[in-house]
Order: sequence, then structure tokens, then C-alpha cells
Amino acid sequence: MTDQAMTVTHTANVVEDLAAVRQRTLALVSHLATEDLERQIAPIMSPLVWDLGHIAAYEDLWLAHRHAGMELLRPDLAALYDAFETPRAVRGDLEILGYDDAVAYLDEVRARTLAALEITGPDPVLHEMVLQHELQHTETMRQAMAIAGLLAPGEPTLPPLTTPEGWLHVAAGTHALGASDAVFSYDNERPRHAVDVDAFAIALRPVTNATWLHFVEGGGYVRREWWSSEGWAWKEEYDITHHASVAAGDPDAPACHTSYFEAEALARWCGARLPTEAEWEKASARLDGVGHVWEWTASTFGGYPGFEAFPYREYSEVFFGDRYHVLRGGSWATHPRVATATFRNWDLPERRQIFAGVRLARDLGEPT
Ligand code: AVJ
Ligand code: FE
Repeated sequence: MTDQAMTVTHTANVVEDLAAVRQRTLALVSHLATEDLERQIAPIMSPLVWDLGHIAAYEDLWLAHRHAGMELLRPDLAALYDAFETPRAVRGDLEILGYDDAVAYLDEVRARTLAALEITGPDPVLHEMVLQHELQHTETMRQAMAIAGLLAPGEPTLPPLTTPEGWLHVAAGTHALGASDAVFSYDNERPRHAVDVDAFAIALRPVTNATWLHFVEGGGYVRREWWSSEGWAWKEEYDITHHASVAAGDPDAPACHTSYFEAEALARWCGARLPTEAEWEKASARLDGVGHVWEWTASTFGGYPGFEAFPYREYSEVFFGDRYHVLRGGSWATHPRVATATFRNWDLPERRQIFAGVRLARDLGEPT
């Protein structure tokens, strides 16, 4: 095959994937009332229509403007749909596009990016990034929909786990942490580098609702000893108890909507701890029950040694530091294209809107 033919084949795949992802996005909200699409559901969530406009603006910025060198279609909307310039809490007060206008904006941008794609061919990084960006936002939209009681029938998809309780023992040794150069990855997954990992045990499945309720019955939210001081202060200030979905869900399904602070306390109550990212990734190929709920790790979000921001600092770097904790694995709402074994998600330790649960880990001494 000539280079030319390969490019054409590749372009056709990208066109097809862009269309399939879009169809999935629009199907997610097609059953919702305009009023529900346009209202701010919670202070920490955007109105659902904001996500639609933002998806369009992101595609226009990266594929039409940066990749193909076109002017922005709507420069007047750039700041409004820039996640960094316009934080979630104020998105409901702004004059954002209504549902019909947001869909028209998506369509107009898409016509431009398809025309550009025919001329330039796909960029191996930017087209994948834009596709995955839209897939990531459909999970964010489902988080808002879950809070508002707007999920489609059958969602959340959290069936009872079939793996029995148990531990996987992993011997001490190095692990190549991060993504291989041969595949698409985000800047925060690079560069892949060797880390030493002590022997550890990691649970064969995430913590279930039944276990979580035992923690509750055992005074989990009343007794101080399992909590960090930060976690306890947060719990006290906001009068936190177990999330409603823990009692409502199947007892054998993974507990979901748990914050890092609660995850940490639950783990200590179990005589265990949360895994580090390196432990999680090292064990990931052998783990059951991955992909139901995001799994909180003990690790805070930072750049790997030699990190270089790409293609923009606001994707990851501005979140580096002690505040954000890393989650691994993916949830029922995460598209497999996003949920790779090296993908790093992150959020603040008090957040419960994400579809996040707990996988326990513990130290293993030297073999005897
Ligand atoms: C990787 C899920 C933390 O939602 O802030 C979406 C993904 N980045 N638009 C986020 C993302 C830009 C990101 N998370
Ligand atoms: Fe975004």
C-alpha cells in the first residue's frame, strides 16, 4: 500500500469514529427535557448543554484552528467554553448556547473539521485526543445526570460481582510505570519509567455495597480512629454519611460515589490501605472487576520524572500537587478507548460525583 492509500484508509476510520462518538453523545441526552439540559444541576457540575458547546469549541480549537490553520468558527464563544477560564460553578449563570444552538454549533464545527480532514489527513495525536475528549465528557455528563436522577433506564450499570473476596500477592520487583511510546497516551502517562515496588497484596475485586454497610453499622461515620484529620473535618463539616447509592445498590455490586476521604477510612477499618498507582498498574493485568468503578489510589497527582506538558498545560499540569488524588481503571460510564491500564484520572479528595469506589491493598512482608 502506498503512503497515500494508507492515509486515505486512516481518514475514513477517523471520520467513522468521529460520527460514532457524536451519535453516542447526542443519544445520551436525546430523551431529556430542554429545561433539564439547560439548568445547573449542582454547583460542581456544568449544565449539560455547556458540555455540548464545550465539545464543539474543543474540536474547533484543536482540529480546525490548531491542526488545519483555520480561524475559529466562534471566537466570541472561546472563553465561555474554556474549562479553565470559566469554572463549573459559574457556568449556569452565563449566556451559554441553548440546546438547539449547541447542536447547530456541533454540526457546523464538524462540517469544518471533516473538510479539513480531507485535505490534511488525521493528526495521530490531535484527532485521537478530540475523540477521547468527547468520550470523557459523556462520563462527566452522566455524573450530572446521576445527581439529577436523569440517567437512562438500566444505568448505572453496576451488576453484582462474581469474583469472590480474596487477595492477589505480587512479589517485590520493578514496574515500567506509564504508557508505551507505541500507543496514544496523555502527557501525564509519560515518560514510561522503572519504579521499584515492594511486595504487596491487592484485593481481587472492589469493595462491595455490603461491606460498605458493615462499615456504617460498625460506626464508620461516627468513630474517629479510621479517618485522617482532613477527612474527619470534612465529614463533620458537611455531615457526611454513606452515599445513598450504597444502600440502594445490589449488596454484591461495587460501592460507588465514595470520596477519597471515605475510601481511606474504609480501608483502615478493614486493616488495609489504598494501593499506590504503581501497585495498581503493576497488578492491573491480573485484576478482576476493573471497569465498574474508578478506584482511588493513595497517590497524589503529579508528573512522572521528565514530564513535558503536551499539547497544553491545562490538560494535566495545572492540577499537579498534593490536592488531587489519582483514580485508576475506569467506571461503567468510561468508554474502553479511554480506560487503558495506564490512564490516570484525578479528583479532589472530597468529591463524590465521580463513579468511584475502593480496591484494597496491604503490605506483604518478606516471604518466610
Ligand atoms: C481527566 C476527567 C479529570 O474532566 O477534568 C475533559 C478530562 N479534560 N476536558 C476532566 C477532561 C478536558 C478531565 N479528567
Ligand atoms: Fe473538556
